[in-house]
Amino acid sequence: MKWKNKLFLLTLIAIKLVDEPAPEVTIAQGTLIGKISSDGTFFEYLGIPYATTNSSTRFRAPGPPPSWTGLFKAVEESSSCPQNSFFGELTALRAKKPLQLFFDTQLLHLPCVESTIAEEEPVITDLPFNLYKNISKDIDVIYGSTSKEGFLLIAGDTNETLAERHGRYLFASDLRFSSDEEGFVTSKKVENFYFGDDVINMSQILKVAEFYTQLYFEIPAIFETECLIDKTQSKVYNYIFNYSGQRNFMKLRSGYYNEPGASHADDLFYLFRGSLIPPIFTKQDKKIIDYMTTLWTNFAKYGDPTPDWTNSVLKWEPSKKHNMKFLYIDDVPKIGSMPNNDAFHLWKNIYDKYRKTDI
Ligand SMILES: *[C@@H]1O[C@H](CO)[C@@H](O)[C@H](O)[C@H]1NC(C)=O
Ligand SMILES: *[C@@H]1O[C@H](CO)[C@@H](O)[C@H](O)[C@H]1NC(C)=O
Ligand SMILES: *[C@@H]1O[C@H](CO)[C@@H](O)[C@H](O)[C@H]1NC(C)=O
Ligand SMILES: *[C@@H]1O[C@H](CO)[C@@H](O)[C@H](O)[C@H]1NC(C)=O
Ligand SMILES: *[C@@H]1O[C@H](CO)[C@@H](O)[C@H](O)[C@H]1NC(C)=O
Repeated sequence: MKWKNKLFLLTLIAIKLVDEPAPEVTIAQGTLIGKISSDGTFFEYLGIPYATTNSSTRFRAPGPPPSWTGLFKAVEESSSCPQNSFFGELTALRAKKPLQLFFDTQLLHLPCVESTIAEEEPVITDLPFNLYKNISKDIDVIYGSTSKEGFLLIAGDTNETLAERHGRYLFASDLRFSSDEEGFVTSKKVENFYFGDDVINMSQILKVAEFYTQLYFEIPAIFETECLIDKTQSKVYNYIFNYSGQRNFMKLRSGYYNEPGASHADDLFYLFRGSLIPPIFTKQDKKIIDYMTTLWTNFAKYGDPTPDWTNSVLKWEPSKKHNMKFLYIDDVPKIGSMPNNDAFHLWKNIYDKYRKTDI
């Protein structure tokens, strides 16, 4: 009987329905069994738990790795951290997203809504969209994005990754359509807006970056600003960071350093020192650092980045309904209106109709 089972197993392995096991190994925690990689060239031991955690370790260091008796099947990738993108995977948190249908990045376009944990006061208990509907406190915020957020997201793209996404919807996965037809037609509109008749391949990569910048960062920041202004008395100070200097480390990392503008998170290196970041900057960088840290600390201290008595050359006013104001942080900072008005209207129409609110 046993050999029959074995033969059956070998058949499943042969047609790739079951993984071919890799040798058992024993580590400090216990014994593992892995599998042979799909191309047959190495042994894989996946998803080995490296820490323990529970409600009382929230925001604290986790406990030691668990141990087990018997055999741990290390054959499945474990969970990704929310918003995991290019920096490797953690195995502690699970967040799955529907990738199949969407021309999407690894970016998890969903906020981390907290589950109920006894004796812990939650902060984000629902989608911000739903929370703001009932908000009772007016919280002033600075809300902004960088001009080329998408550089970081295209860093990993190749001919192959772009080709894989053909035929998918050009949206984030926070929309819902009543029919595939409706989704398809709307997606074509987006495709036409960003790419015209061009095939989406590496020669269009800067347009892909533009699309990511707007869909994932610029437009959501604007929508959320509108929502806050509409539903609360909160003051919202908007900015676009477009400065490019020696501390645009994320742009450097993305491989698009010679393009103008600033990548996702480049603004952080002009606000924070960062212990891993070399302290390099030019005179102009220093000016931007002084400028931004002054604005941000004024905001923290006085609720206004440019209080009247500071005689700032440039007064940064909060956005108003139907009159958004942006501080463009650049070699020479200036105040301007909403960027990319046409893109805003495109996405506004789509989100007004198809936004999912029950994620
Ligand atoms: C939670 O984990 C910590 C660290 O491993 C441990 O000291 C503590 O006893 C655990 N608490 C509960 C309720 O299991
Ligand atoms: C918002 O208010 C409604 C009724 O006023 C209530 O049913 C709902 O639970 C509230 N939602 C949140 C997120 O507080
Ligand atoms: C992508 O495809 C183009 C055209 O087929 C080719 O010239 C180019 O070398 C490819 N790029 C990479 C990075 O493979
Ligand atoms: C992109 O697609 C166009 C049109 O199909 C083709 O001419 C071009 O070689 C492609 N470029 C790359 C880099 O694949
Ligand atoms: C950002 O700076 C570049 C020049 O470096 C300029 O061409 C572009 O218009 C600026 N973008 C914005 C949004 O200000």
